[in-house]
Amino acid sequence: MKVEICNTYEEISKKAAAFIIEQVNQVPNSVIGFATGSSPIGLYKELVRDYRENATSYKDVISFNLDEYFGINKDNDQSYYYFMKTHLFKHIDIKKEHIHIPSGDSEDVLEECEFYNKKLAEHIVDIQILGIGSNGHIGFNEPGTPFDQKTHVIELDEKTRQDNARFFNSYDEVPQYAVTMGIKNILQARKILLIATGEKKADAVKRMIEGPETIDLPASALQSHPDVTVLVDYEAASMLS
Ligand code: F6R
Repeated sequence: MKVEICNTYEEISKKAAAFIIEQVNQVPNSVIGFATGSSPIGLYKELVRDYRENATSYKDVISFNLDEYFGINKDNDQSYYYFMKTHLFKHIDIKKEHIHIPSGDSEDVLEECEFYNKKLAEHIVDIQILGIGSNGHIGFNEPGTPFDQKTHVIELDEKTRQDNARFFNSYDEVPQYAVTMGIKNILQARKILLIATGEKKADAVKRMIEGPETIDLPASALQSHPDVTVLVDYEAASMLS
């Protein structure tokens, strides 16, 4: 893993954006894996700014998001569909039919997982963006998730629900379940770009990079991937030896 320690969140966001912009300029029909949560918000702002200033086009880009809350429909302002729309997709020229986000309210969720795996199998993600949970999750692959699992439904950890309660009115409103790409899907990307900031992530970042590869810390699975770049600030890097 390549670890880059940056001075500010702005620097991280700009570096991450440069990565994506270079990829899309070189290969206009790139497949990009997007994440939600607070970590990539600065990156998406940079992409939107670049789109306005330099007209980098996403018209041939295909996107796959990592996850979606279960039991929430896409118009709900807490859905990851809504998140992606407001932070990125409505501001750029990506085509609606090129966007893939697991559906959180399909009638048959197992069928939805199968459908998502099928779509993923038809594409190779060029760059997968990731954040990391304070418990070491990637996507919503919580501790204990086998590394060979593909898209599945998962019960969210209490820690994850507590961490994400900041986006909701209360802890009780945080959904209990989610649909997430599996670690196996994530590892199939050609390149992985993980963003982590703040002291709360320091332990997970240390265990991801220096700890043993174990299902207790899902992000440690990235150790076996040949092309991972980790962009961190000093707080998130503070426990690295
Ligand atoms: C989001 C996702 C999660 C987040 C992680 C960190 O699509 O898959 O793994 O990346 O929970 O979230 P933030 O960035 O809000 O700290």
